[in-house]
Amino acid sequence: MHREETNPSTHAVRSVRQRAPVRLSAAIAAAALALAACGPGTGSPGPASGGPAGTGTAGGWQPTGPITIVVPFAAGGPTDTVTRQIAGPMGTALGQQIVVSNVVGAGGTTAAGQVAAAPADGYTVLMHHIGMSTAPTLYPDLGFDPLTSFKTLGLVTEVPMTIVGGSEFAPNTLQELVAHVKANPGTVNYANAGVGAASHLCGLLIEQAIGAELNEVEFEGTGPAMDDLLGNQVDFMCDQTTNTATHITAGTIKAYGITSAERNDALPAVPTTAEGGLADVKVQVWHGLYVPSATPDNVAQALTAALQTALADATVAAEFAKLGTAPVAADQATPAAHTAKLQAEIEVWRPLLEAAEE
Ligand code: MLT
Repeated sequence: MHREETNPSTHAVRSVRQRAPVRLSAAIAAAALALAACGPGTGSPGPASGGPAGTGTAGGWQPTGPITIVVPFAAGGPTDTVTRQIAGPMGTALGQQIVVSNVVGAGGTTAAGQVAAAPADGYTVLMHHIGMSTAPTLYPDLGFDPLTSFKTLGLVTEVPMTIVGGSEFAPNTLQELVAHVKANPGTVNYANAGVGAASHLCGLLIEQAIGAELNEVEFEGTGPAMDDLLGNQVDFMCDQTTNTATHITAGTIKAYGITSAERNDALPAVPTTAEGGLADVKVQVWHGLYVPSATPDNVAQALTAALQTALADATVAAEFAKLGTAPVAADQATPAAHTAKLQAEIEVWRPLLEAAEE
């Protein structure tokens, strides 16, 4: 990809580097955490908060103050949205307020590095997604190990992605998009959230499937990227339904395809990428919660129990469904299932990214 970054204040685009088109296989579908330094403006409560009426917790740990869930991308994006949905019921289960703090940078690895080095006391939790499994390959000087620097708490949700375009972007179908990119190699502006973000990975799959290079425009998350897509400052992106469904339904952006095997109940008119001729652009963005590895077992167990309570909440399920996703099955919201997923995904992505010279 031809890679560019946005200036956060102006969204102006500047070129970063040019490289050859990727050869990604089509086989797939720290410093101590300075949360205080995030300032009061960056941390905010989830949509609801638990009060002192919390009823004790599995694992026998009863937190005595607010818990922070660190989100590694900008506010208003899909990771932030999913986190805020579960923060309320988790807080109620734990009897404490859950604060959501957005720590952006380096495709989610800045936040992960900070949480890895945070006090292992249960008061700092990381929400991360598929990017945790690609980080060790993409960032050789990561400063943490996804498998040993954290305790996994459980998976949260798996979200399909949608290829979406601005209302003024010429292509109206996936086939027209493919033809447009092929006719304009290296100049079609593709928004993403940085190297290792889900939107970056999906862009690699698109490039490989099309065989033409995109002009990659980096944002601190796909929340701000969506703002620029809505304003037609970028041409298109591939982002999770948790960030795109509302806009697709409202008709304010164009939807070209969804990256799941089947159409999605929330977006029945959106064809799958396979239907549109890009069968190899298939990806599901899985999310999970983490704490620093030295966190006591009973503390981690209490947090896992709170996650399981949140995922069983009917309101959470209904809100997820509106956004094209669902809570994971109960047996997936466990440390064992989460660790197995992380290990497997690291092995899936490493050879593919190495081959892509990413
Ligand atoms: C976000 O929350 O902004 C996204 O998950 C970023 C991405 O991975 O594309």
